[in-house]
Amino acid sequence: MARPYIIAIASEKGGVGKTTLATNLAIYLKGLAENLPVTLFSFDNHFTVDQMFCLTKSIETNNVSGLFGNKNPADLLTTGQYGVDYIPSSRTLLENQNQIKGVDHLAKAIAHSSMQGVIIIDTSPTLDLYTQNALFAADRIIVPIKDAPSLENCLNLSNFLVGQKRSKSALKLLPCLIDTRIRFDGPFRNSYQLLKAYAINRGYRCFEGFIAKSPKVESLSTNPSGKIHPVITHGRNTDVHLQLSHLTRQIYLEYLEHGPTRLKEIVNAISDQEDDFLQEYTSRVKNLHKTCLCCDNPLPEKNIWPNAYFLENITNSLSGFIEEDCFFELLLHEFYPELNGKEQQQLLQEILVGAANRPFLLLQKTLGDGDEIRVDLSRLDQDGKKISGRDILINKHKRIPRKRKKTLLNLFNKTGEDHNEMQQLLIRQADENPLEQLQQKNYLKWKMVFNRILIEKTLEKDNREE
Ligand SMILES: Nc1ncnc2c1ncn2[C@@H]1O[C@H](COP(=O)(O)OP(=O)(O)O)[C@@H](O)[C@H]1O
Ligand SMILES: [Mg+2]
Repeated sequence: MARPYIIAIASEKGGVGKTTLATNLAIYLKGLAENLPVTLFSFDNHFTVDQMFCLTKSIETNNVSGLFGNKNPADLLTTGQYGVDYIPSSRTLLENQNQIKGVDHLAKAIAHSSMQGVIIIDTSPTLDLYTQNALFAADRIIVPIKDAPSLENCLNLSNFLVGQKRSKSALKLLPCLIDTRIRFDGPFRNSYQLLKAYAINRGYRCFEGFIAKSPKVESLSTNPSGKIHPVITHGRNTDVHLQLSHLTRQIYLEYLEHGPTRLKEIVNAISDQEDDFLQEYTSRVKNLHKTCLCCDNPLPEKNIWPNAYFLENITNSLSGFIEEDCFFELLLHEFYPELNGKEQQQLLQEILVGAANRPFLLLQKTLGDGDEIRVDLSRLDQDGKKISGRDILINKHKRIPRKRKKTLLNLFNKTGEDHNEMQQLLIRQADENPLEQLQQKNYLKWKMVFNRILIEKTLEKDNREE
């Protein structure tokens, strides 16, 4: 599948010429390669893109916010002037920021769309989530710099890339708004040469050439019609026209030479990860105990009971289900032998439903004094915080009637771990489809809660011992 090549124009400094560059670059690219689909959109909250490319007066319902919604990005495109496709700008980016699911949201959306050719993204002068998404997806990041402070700001962009395990060579700097009338004495004759030397000295790559400051170019965005004119049509006799042509040629050659690789890389990384997740899930299913952990009845056909409880120890040496009836019987026998039938029902209701929806239950076995083993039963909320608890002491040598297999010690013995060690079993009522519990997302949550509980238990113990 042919994927698009993405160019982000970014700089944490405002007024360095990002938007002017983004809009004109789109038009110059079309001029250079008529058949190349070129798409432009802006994550800034001004409407320069719309003012430059809009052909009709009709109000657009689609805008760049839709890139993070349920829409296909290709459906958001409007064919604009000069043959450039654009996505209308949005006034409500800030309010909609919470719909962004992560730095890779935009990349995934575009990768799954039919967008092709070159996409140019203009960004705002902050490293917000929109800018981060643009940087993350981009094959090439163009950073206009106009002075030393704007050059210093590049460090944040480069740190962001490094944080995403990318090389900072995706960045390429372009001196912009250069006043060519100013001349220096010494080795660097003008601010362009000085900036370029600074940039290279700091390990950045630069485009050949620069974009000069031109009153004519400045005037293109201020005219009575409210329309913003491009350099190619209204500033052909400026140096900036030649500079933009030269720059566009460099960018186009890079595109031809390297092609779109970034989205491919992202998609491959995601599918590798999905493969890993699937493998981990399969091995968790394989590791499941094949019978009820209490009564040893074999698992039914689909590996599940309708009302089963999932149970695991932290090392996964024991992982499986307990039938609901078995589980209730076990709890009542061991922890509440004195209760009558009605009281038992009430109690179960309280322990297993109670305040928290599907609480976690933790069984912890510790060695007590002499021949005693202590088992704590704690009821914990969704986040693993203790709600209530009860503990009992069991004599190691107490004879258990042969037919009663449903004992706590039996359950702990199934872990195969040293029975002198402290052991914990985490239990929770399984979903309607119990294997859901083993899916990556749910399972990570389960493990996270388990780890948190164990950390708290350790702290509790340390406090007691102090
Ligand atoms: N080459 C140039 N010469 C003169 N003025 C320019 C040039 N490029 C941009 N400008 C002007 O500078 C201001 C900032 O440019 P803009 O592209 O909006 O920067 P940014 O998007 O980084 O904030 C605008 O008023 C624009 O018209
Ligand atoms: Mg701008």
